Amino acid sequence: MSRFYVTTPIYYVNDVPHIGHAYTTVTADALARWHRLLGDDTWFLTGTDEHGLKVQRAAEAAGRSPQEHADVTSARFRETWDLLDISYDDYIRTTEPRHHAAVQAFLQKVYDNGHIYKGAYEGLYCVSCEAYYTEADLIDGVNCPIHHRPVETLSEDNWFFRLSAFTQPLLDWYEANPGAVSANGKRNEALGIIKQGLEDISISRTSIDWGIPVPWDDDHVFYVWYDALINYATAVGYGDDPERFEAWWPAVHHLIGKDILRFHCVYWPAMLLAAGEEPPPHIDVHGFLLVGGEKMSKTTLNQIFPADLVADFGVDGFRYHFLRDVPFGTDGDFSYEAMVSRYNSDLANNLGNLVSRVATVVGKKCDGRGTAPSPDSPLAAIAAESYADAARAWDDVAPSIALDATWRLLREANAYLEANEPWKLDPGPEVDTVMGDALEVLRIVAILASPALPNLTPVIWARIGLDGSPADQRLPEAAAWGGYPAGRPVTKGDPLVPRIGTKG
Ligand code: MSP
Repeated sequence: MSRFYVTTPIYYVNDVPHIGHAYTTVTADALARWHRLLGDDTWFLTGTDEHGLKVQRAAEAAGRSPQEHADVTSARFRETWDLLDISYDDYIRTTEPRHHAAVQAFLQKVYDNGHIYKGAYEGLYCVSCEAYYTEADLIDGVNCPIHHRPVETLSEDNWFFRLSAFTQPLLDWYEANPGAVSANGKRNEALGIIKQGLEDISISRTSIDWGIPVPWDDDHVFYVWYDALINYATAVGYGDDPERFEAWWPAVHHLIGKDILRFHCVYWPAMLLAAGEEPPPHIDVHGFLLVGGEKMSKTTLNQIFPADLVADFGVDGFRYHFLRDVPFGTDGDFSYEAMVSRYNSDLANNLGNLVSRVATVVGKKCDGRGTAPSPDSPLAAIAAESYADAARAWDDVAPSIALDATWRLLREANAYLEANEPWKLDPGPEVDTVMGDALEVLRIVAILASPALPNLTPVIWARIGLDGSPADQRLPEAAAWGGYPAGRPVTKGDPLVPRIGTKG
């Protein structure tokens, strides 16, 4: 059995969850659900990043202690993920004791291996990024390239990680692992950073105490990023349960936004090498969701919150839009109108209408009992092709292509009904065959679409009289043509996905 360990970035608790965070989390969730269908041993991790200056300042501004602030905001993230039916297996918080222990064990190992030393550091720091920049990185030499706000000069006595020593090992590792960062452009970006030559990086702070103490020098706490990255190891037992860690590492797939590529594709693999562990073999990098052409963030005041869209589109409508309309890898401009139009065309029309048409005709012409699909149906080959394309696309972390391939089967089934007009035929074998084929398409689509639509697909499943749930099926067997059993009660019910009118 293969193992599939998928992670989202852990989200800073200075901010509340917006649709940019939801985009990554929904994608990870759909991937996890797809891999569960495949029967893979799947582990899905998300959580919150709770240390550092940014969180400390947000807490001060809110009149709370950092821990109280982290508790409140971490709970907001969790509620949002519960609202969106995110099927995480573990929700890590970096303030948990298990994480403190793992960070200390991990970095102690790196220290013992001789890759950490003490030195002085002065640099240009963006508090919003929690990152140092060189002058060349800045806009007009003063502003953070992400937040467009002035950076600060910080000077401290720090512990340094000897990143420079890992330039060649990283290049060798990437050479041996050509699929490690997708999409291809992002791999080149990571390689470009490494090839420029890497400088040692400061991994501790004395200026704040909201962090995990350096075990060999308790005047220092680890800089938030070097604590945060280790969460992926903590969650599968690093330093605590070596057998478990061994089982899950490195079967990991990190999903990240393009702004944190350097940390995940350069620093994290180097830290792992320094600790004697394998770098992550799959890092999938996505673009930004833009609102009015700008990245959504607290500082630009252009955030859109998941609950507001769920109120209009439902959970599955929300999930479907982001999976289908924002190709993984590129930036996407959020548009409410595009969301309405996708919802109406794919969910209300293609899916909802097919479900209701099928139930109506089966009710009227087949005594309300499902009929068997034909082994020679013209839809059989299309179903096989849709499955193959969808499976390849999920494997490539391309949900929008996977869903397009799945919807192709629905479009063809609708066209097949239009061509055969079973509603005009008298009851008999011809209607039975056409309806059996349509029911079979609904069965297959309910399974293939279940990673995106965890609420609607079980309803379709029940309406066509099937037991259990689409998520419990096993691929690829369950996608093979001919699985729909005749004689099951088919029920009509309320419209599955009512159309949405455009707001005036
Ligand atoms: N805490 C760090 C990650 C540590 S992982 C070891 C962090 N947190 S974050 O909350 O600022 O961002 C988390 C993720 O959300 C990043 O991948 C970032 O790209 C993503 N997004 C934040 N805003 C986004 C958009 N507007 N669009 C798409 N993704 C966005 O960085």
